[in-house]
Amino acid sequence: MATANKNLLTWVDDMAALCQPENIVWCDGSKEEWSNMWDILVKSGTAKKLDEHKRPNSYYIRSVPADVARVEDRTYICSEKEEDAGPTNNWCEPAKMRTTLKALFSGCMKGRTLYVIPFSMGPIGSKIAQIGVQITDSPYVVTNMHIMARVGDKVLDVLGADGDFVPCVHSVGVPLAAGDKDAPWPCNPDNRYIVHYPETREIWSFGSGYGGNALLGKKCFALRIASTMARDEGWMAEHMLILKLTNPEGAVKYVAGAFPSACGKTNLAMLTPTIPGWKVETIGDDICWMKFGDDGQLYAINPEAGFFGVAPGTSMQSNANAMLSMTENSIFTNVAETDDGDVWWEDMTDEPPAHLVDWKGKDWTPDSNAPAAHPNARFTAPAAQCPVIADEWEDPKGVPISAILFGGRRATVVPLVTEALNWKHGTFIGTIIASEMTAAAFGKIGKLRRDPMAMLPFCGYNMADYWNHWLEIGQKEGAKLPKIFYVNWFRKNDKGKFMWPGFGENSRVLKWVFERCTGKAKAIDTAIGKMPTLDGLDLEGLEMDEVDKANLLRVDTDGWLQELPGIEKYYARFGNHLPKELTKQVEDLRRRLESAKKAVA
Ligand code: GTP
Ligand code: SPV
Ligand code: MN
Repeated sequence: MATANKNLLTWVDDMAALCQPENIVWCDGSKEEWSNMWDILVKSGTAKKLDEHKRPNSYYIRSVPADVARVEDRTYICSEKEEDAGPTNNWCEPAKMRTTLKALFSGCMKGRTLYVIPFSMGPIGSKIAQIGVQITDSPYVVTNMHIMARVGDKVLDVLGADGDFVPCVHSVGVPLAAGDKDAPWPCNPDNRYIVHYPETREIWSFGSGYGGNALLGKKCFALRIASTMARDEGWMAEHMLILKLTNPEGAVKYVAGAFPSACGKTNLAMLTPTIPGWKVETIGDDICWMKFGDDGQLYAINPEAGFFGVAPGTSMQSNANAMLSMTENSIFTNVAETDDGDVWWEDMTDEPPAHLVDWKGKDWTPDSNAPAAHPNARFTAPAAQCPVIADEWEDPKGVPISAILFGGRRATVVPLVTEALNWKHGTFIGTIIASEMTAAAFGKIGKLRRDPMAMLPFCGYNMADYWNHWLEIGQKEGAKLPKIFYVNWFRKNDKGKFMWPGFGENSRVLKWVFERCTGKAKAIDTAIGKMPTLDGLDLEGLEMDEVDKANLLRVDTDGWLQELPGIEKYYARFGNHLPKELTKQVEDLRRRLESAKKAVA
């Protein structure tokens, strides 16, 4: 190993003593290592190499049905005090959790190899970047980490002899006795724990090999632990995409957007505009770290190096740039296999292939009742392969953010786009986001739930304290804050169909956002915020049902008034942690809605 970092060496020794692996391997992030991992996975029957001509250096893997998404009910924030985790997080006393985990991790890697993965979230050496080291017994995790983070010796160089790192321990939780044959997808669904100790900045994950449960740099570190770092240090760690928007004259604005899981971040981050002359380029598709620059602007970096994107629904029509990002050097999990050694998922093509092997390994034809790919099937692809990745996506100083979008899946009430009156009102809007649940996490799909700032599953401390942090960011002296917008691509008409075509057509909304930032676009004041008039949105060339069109921007005064008691009830859960400003915002909104109602009557 290429490190003299005593803390790291001691920690690895301690973890090895606890987990009792057969071998220890320090990962260097090299191509050889990638190939070695896949050799292991292919030989054991876990993974398949895809056809080298169709999809070079890419692999197919299927999990088991019990391990296909994040497990929020098994995710814990173990702060010393319960109220610091807050009512929206699972909490357990740290000492008690340590006892539980010690028992589970004891000997959990018997018969397996312990991999040590040094990684950097953010460009290596950037002042905004952070270093973590993940220990795992999953070669699949090693391969994903190669794509999703910067991995290997170059990280150890930056860490040096006395640098700090966030320790991340992961095990699939299935020790092997001599002679045991390994399962194709080892996991321990009855004993899953995704645990965070925010005060000591540690992550422990047991029993799952999937996505955010197992790739600990992503949600566990870059959101849950980083959100607590951000609170302490005056910056922001958010579940946001970052895009670069260029208008026909060549002027540039950077936009960040927080939508809940599987609600359109990847799609928006790399969309192909339908309006002439406009260009969207990608900085990041899932996570955004923002720090104030000397000029008072918020500068954002994407801490990740790859995309772990929702596969179903992704096609050359809906998101060509995602499709082109995964043409090689990519991993496909829980999609379907084609007969010619490639992959397929729902809506990838208009016509499904006549025969597939589905995500459960069973024969599938278009007559089959169940989908061929799991709804949370994912691709892992290097961000650098995205055809519209922005030149500055790895700029260590980040990009200045002009606008922040909040959004979610709302079939009713919430119009296509609204601009917040100011930062406080924008923060309020963020706190009241509700969205229909998706397959990205175990739970009741389609159920409407509050997901403030799209951070419900990812905030590492008391949600109300996090809202207060947002308000404090707005108070920073000399701050030149982004404008905040609320968007909804998912409003439905009375036939249950989406009113708005979405995807590339969302560029029309981005144009209005851009021109609000430059002062060019007009807005009218409504009870819920500033909005475009219908002719203030560029809808040229868009064929749309006239009734839907009229309804896109309709302010549903009664619908909004009906939301308020639910918001107040939700707020009440946070007791005295709730910032007073937010209570005031609800009152102000109610007053504006009631006077709008009177004006009509
Ligand atoms: P995570 O990776 O889970 O955080 O999700 P994400 O926010 O990046 O979601 P993603 O962009 O992968 O979108 C998920 C689903 O939403 C896909 O099935 C898309 O087809 C669908 N989707 C994305 N954008 C739109 C849109 O503008 N309109 C509609 N109707 N669907 C969309
Ligand atoms: C999400 O669920 O928001 C994701 C996928 O981005 S995972 O990495 O599994 O959290
Ligand atoms: Mn996400």
